[in-house]
This record gives sequence, structure tokens and C-alpha cells, in this order.
Amino acid sequence: MKTNIKVDFLGLKLNSPVLTASGTFGYGDEVADLVDLKQLGAIVTKTITLEPKLGNPQPRIAEVASGMLNTIGLQNIGVRKFVETKLENLLELNVPIIVSVAGACSEDYVGVIKILNSYDKIFAVELNLSCPNLKKTIICQDIGLFDSVIRNVKKISRFPVIAKLSPQVQDISELSLLAQNIGADAVTLTNTFPAMAINIHTFKPKLSTIKGGMSGPCVKPMALRCVFEAGQKIKIPIIGCGGISNANDAIEFILAGATCVSIGTATLVEPKVITDAVSDITKYLENKNIRNLSDLIGRVEL
Ligand SMILES: Cc1cc2nc3c(=O)[nH]c(=O)nc-3n(C[C@H](O)[C@H](O)[C@H](O)COP(=O)(O)O)c2cc1C
Repeated sequence: MKTNIKVDFLGLKLNSPVLTASGTFGYGDEVADLVDLKQLGAIVTKTITLEPKLGNPQPRIAEVASGMLNTIGLQNIGVRKFVETKLENLLELNVPIIVSVAGACSEDYVGVIKILNSYDKIFAVELNLSCPNLKKTIICQDIGLFDSVIRNVKKISRFPVIAKLSPQVQDISELSLLAQNIGADAVTLTNTFPAMAINIHTFKPKLSTIKGGMSGPCVKPMALRCVFEAGQKIKIPIIGCGGISNANDAIEFILAGATCVSIGTATLVEPKVITDAVSDITKYLENKNIRNLSDLIGRVEL
């Protein structure tokens, strides 16, 4: 039986449901030689801001059991340099490109999108709404700002708008519903989980910013719960993200309600996991005699 792992997502038929997660695949072009990019559904770039950012001081990464903590702090070259030095190459790769965008206020996001609007081959933009606002809480915790960022970007964006949410909120499924009602075309669930680690020899936190974001296999069940609960409430598609390392993890997220999945931390250890996941999803469908992967979306039996 011929199986079909293509998925319809925001008006495109993606070659597979497997995407890269923002910030773990460089700007996207650096890894072109390491994996067969044609197998990916899309590449999500590192988050870009209006002005370049140096990021947080070192140490910015710490390993924890079954995962890692990071506090990169949105280090990036800024949107102008990104479009001058990275974007043209990326758009030549023949893989749909989703550009991740962040800022501290609505004008920052709109400023980036206005520049990206000149590049019609971009597939979509993903709004990273986990970054600090001017009051130093995160945008997902500031409902007024959350609303104005999505609304103002939607007004001017030539591309579909994906809202990437933080789990650091009271009810991520309600926030997903709000994103849908404001006009987001899809949501990514989730970004990293707030966490910390301490060096017991120096008594110091392992990250320069004391706390950071946790990712990797240890967050998978929590991210899966977020996708499941949002999937019960919203109609727009979900990109599941958090601890996915292989085809089995990806299928769990799809059964919970995700249309696509993105893989982050696992690719830092071994970039090939992303294409292995694609081929193993095909094998799973063949073994189960399931023709279309899309028939599995949200099919968890309760
Ligand atoms: C080193 C590192 C850098 C990251 N940078 C970004 C980023 O720039 N923008 C963003 O939206 N998410 C960023 N993330 C979060 C990931 O995209 C993803 O949401 C999270 O790590 C959970 O997925 P995972 O467990 O597969 O890594 C980063 C994660 C890591 C580990």
C-alpha cells in the first residue's frame, strides 16, 4: 500500500509533517549539508528581531536529566542583515521557510514583518511570543500586548501568521483560543518550560540568568498535554513542539491533535533524527495499514 505522509498546512501540501524548531537549526542554511532537507515539511529559522541582539551572558546552556536548559536571549543578526546575508540562500533550498520573529512591543514585530513582506517566497511567519516585553514579563502573560502583536501583524503580513505560545501561562488552551479569535492562522505549542539548575560545588546557578527554558525529552508529556487540550478547543492547525526525538513521539503529538511537529533539542545532539523521524513515520503507517498520515490528526481515543 502506498502511504502518504504529506500534510495540508496553511494552504501548502508539505512533504512531511516534520519541521525544525526555531533556534536549534541555525538560520536554516548551515545544516543544508547535514540532512536531506527535501524530506522536511518546513524549516523554521532562528528568531529574528528588528535590531541585532548579542543575547545573554555565558553560561547560557546547561544539561539536565533527559534535556537541557538554555538562556540564549534571542541572540541574532537582526532582520536587515538576515535578509541581506541569509534569506536569499534559504529561499533557494526548495523547502518552505517559516521565519520566526520576536520583539518587545507590537511595533518591533510590525517593523520586522514590513521588511520580510518584500520576499514573497517566504511561506509563513512564526511569532515568538515567549520573549520579554518592556515590563520584563513575557508577551504571552500580557494579554493586551499579546492581542495587539497578533492583530497588528495580521493586518500587514503577506504571509500566514503562526503564534508560538509559552507554557508559562495559566491556561495555554484558552490562550490558543484567544490567538485564533484574534486572527492567528496556526499555533505552535510550545516553547520551553521555565526551569533552573544549581552547581552544588560552586553553589551558583548553572545559567547566567539564574532561570532558563527547559527542552528535550523531559518536557514531552507536558507539551503533549498542551497540544491535546488546545486541540479540543481550536480549529486552526497546531504545530506540536517539545521533546520530540523520533517518529513515535511525533505520532503521539499528531494523535493528540497536532497537524505538524517540530524537533529542536534532539537535532542538536544528532541532526539526522529529523529525517529518521520522517522515514520511521512512513514505516509506522505501512505497518498499521494506514494510507494517509492526516487521518491520524487528533485521533486519540478517549
Ligand atoms: C538552544 C535553543 C535555542 C532556542 N531558540 C529559540 C528561538 O530563537 N526562538 C524560539 O521560538 N524558540 C527557541 N527555542 C525553543 C525551541 O524552538 C522549542 O520550542 C523548544 O526547545 C522545545 O522543543 P524541543 O524539546 O524539541 O527542543 C530554543 C531552544 C533551544 C534548546
